Amino acid sequence: MNEESSNYIKKTNLFFKKLNNDLISDFYAYESLDSTNEKLKELARNGGKEGTVVITQKQVNGRGRFNRTWESPVGGLYFSILLRPKKNIEKATLLSLVTSVAISKTLGDIGTKSTIKWPNDVKINGKKVAGILIESESLGKNLNFITLGIGINLNTDICKFSKDILKISTSVSSELKTNVDYFHFFELLLNNIKTYYEYFLKNDFNKIIADWKELNETIGKKVIIENKNEKIQGFAVDISPDGFLQLMLKNGDKITITSGDCFYIKN
Ligand code: BTN
Repeated sequence: MNEESSNYIKKTNLFFKKLNNDLISDFYAYESLDSTNEKLKELARNGGKEGTVVITQKQVNGRGRFNRTWESPVGGLYFSILLRPKKNIEKATLLSLVTSVAISKTLGDIGTKSTIKWPNDVKINGKKVAGILIESESLGKNLNFITLGIGINLNTDICKFSKDILKISTSVSSELKTNVDYFHFFELLLNNIKTYYEYFLKNDFNKIIADWKELNETIGKKVIIENKNEKIQGFAVDISPDGFLQLMLKNGDKITITSGDCFYIKN
């Protein structure tokens, strides 16, 4: 381990020891990991507690939605939180809204305007800066655990991104033209996650939906939703109480989309 990485672990350990956030129960910090979600799943299967966090300075096999790669060089913020809400599995989508609102609010806390593309991409100036990977294991209809994986291109040097990623992504520091204090941002983000997760636990889904709607950029746009085998084109009209996207089709039918990749169509 070189000096820079051992410093990272020391600083991270210190951060968690000083942290005042009663959602966070336990933490594991690494200099490098394949994926924080994978590490956290192992901990969850071995009885890890709600609020356990795995964080790393970089990932060598970071994963995004739809099994894509999440490029994770040093400079970004990569972590996963273990949640064990006593809720029906159908409510899991709302957690991606919870998290995207928390990220967007945190960017607001540091004076940066961002928007959310359904369900949970956070963007600055039209380019993606953060993504969320929610994975779950259930016991019957109830959730056993959720690993909430969060990747933020915080102080990432965008030259480190591949050409394809660079077309659609940016980093917070690149947009602000200055670096952001990593641990200050992380603390604000954990506070916002706690606040919105508490709304979720109290079944205050209306508050989550209302704040998501205020930050979203998808409603009111013509979209194509790509799923495994199909592409559905329509007009995004609203979001359902469970966080699903409601589309108006050309023939006037209204349908609900539970998952998929969302692309905008230019008029
Ligand atoms: C996406 O937008 O496709 C989701 C990206 C999620 C990336 C984060 S980084 C921390 C956690 N560990 C992973 O391997 N992925 C998530």
